[in-house]
Amino acid sequence: MTLVIVVGTQWGDEGKGRIVDLLAAEAAVVARYNGGDNAGHTVTVGSQTFKLHLLPAGLIHPHTFGVLGNGMVVNPISLLKEMEMLRAFGIVVDPERLMISYAAHLITPGHKALDAAQERARGAGQIGTTGRGIGPAYTDKAARRGLRLLDMLDPVAFREKMRTHIREANVQLHAFYHAELLEIEAIAAEFEGYAEVLKPYIGDPGAKISEALAAGKVVLAEGAQGTLLDLDHGTYPFVTSSNPTAPGALTGLGLGMQAQAARVVGVTKSFQTRVGAGPFPTEVHDQAAERLRGSGANPWDEFGTTTGRPRRVGWLDGVLLRYAVRINGLTELVVTKLDVLSGLATIPICTAYRSQGRQLRDLPLGPSDLSPFEPIFDEELPGWQEDLTGARTWADLPVNARGYLGKIAEISGVKVSLVSVGPERDQIVKCED
Ligand code: IMP
Repeated sequence: MTLVIVVGTQWGDEGKGRIVDLLAAEAAVVARYNGGDNAGHTVTVGSQTFKLHLLPAGLIHPHTFGVLGNGMVVNPISLLKEMEMLRAFGIVVDPERLMISYAAHLITPGHKALDAAQERARGAGQIGTTGRGIGPAYTDKAARRGLRLLDMLDPVAFREKMRTHIREANVQLHAFYHAELLEIEAIAAEFEGYAEVLKPYIGDPGAKISEALAAGKVVLAEGAQGTLLDLDHGTYPFVTSSNPTAPGALTGLGLGMQAQAARVVGVTKSFQTRVGAGPFPTEVHDQAAERLRGSGANPWDEFGTTTGRPRRVGWLDGVLLRYAVRINGLTELVVTKLDVLSGLATIPICTAYRSQGRQLRDLPLGPSDLSPFEPIFDEELPGWQEDLTGARTWADLPVNARGYLGKIAEISGVKVSLVSVGPERDQIVKCED
């Protein structure tokens, strides 16, 4: 049994795509278990950069089999576009290479229109969603009126369900949001076409993954978003509508407790970023922010992969990192983008919070309201001036860079196993204890 789960420890965009790419080299099955095309996973291989939103990033390795789990919400339009994009790179994602859970839910134009209308209606309280229809699709799932991939197998009943769904979306769009109405028949017909194409991909991946695990194969579960965007455990209500945390991999793939994860890999940026609204205690602004964000000239600068929005940036938050270790049961950390910190005289790192004169190492009531807390940067670690992008071994890292990684391990209580120093596949350093 070798289930490996990769999760983000922050608000997403930790660089999980490239770590998944690395771990997928050993995996037989690569599986997404939560979210939908709100995710953006970037993998750079030589001169090619792949931006994946819905398909597992590990599919870029030709030997892998991909899964979209029941915990996901799937927009067929995005899925088919992404398959087309990969085909242009010579990667054919046919039913021999991909299975979609019969129990995954569909995202429709109704969900997207409602997402946009609901965001507008929130006014100053906007979440800053990706506009992909994620919240409304999970709302329908929880309300037990959602459309599942399974429904696509019966064309007549599916057309009727689509009609009912768009009709209901129109009622809401009209009555609550005064928004434009959707064309019921056109959408129902369009989705009938998608059903025809997707039929051969629909199956029960839980059974397939259990078999692979029993045969001793490596199954890689790719979390999208991050711990602090988890619907239950994140900075609610500024969260997504799924469970990106590691236990979500079991429910989101149809696995039982016997599929104990051998490794739960937490990917953390060497600093902290966030897109969209919500609390961010260690956030910085102005010049310090521009320094961490980059100008946008490089694909790895801090601008959203899905929306292109500039990301909010700040220093690494040890309180939230410790929380992520506990909630996910992390066995190790992978630190990304360490190269970005080169050239700083000192590097602030938050080790605790202060609230009403008290110092706190941990959150008393989870991360939903972080406004009472002021981060304590009780140690400003010395920086390093060397360019790290050429580092490949532990010995190549300047002593202060090793000191920073040691501090992360100390604060989190978990070993740092790998560090990335650039977007290329080989720009990785294996850490020594
Ligand atoms: P939604 O998932 O589109 O509903 O957006 C809810 C919140 O999660 C917003 O703040 C988004 O910016 C954020 N979010 C969703 N997906 C990602 C992601 O893959 N990376 C970073 N932030 C995300």
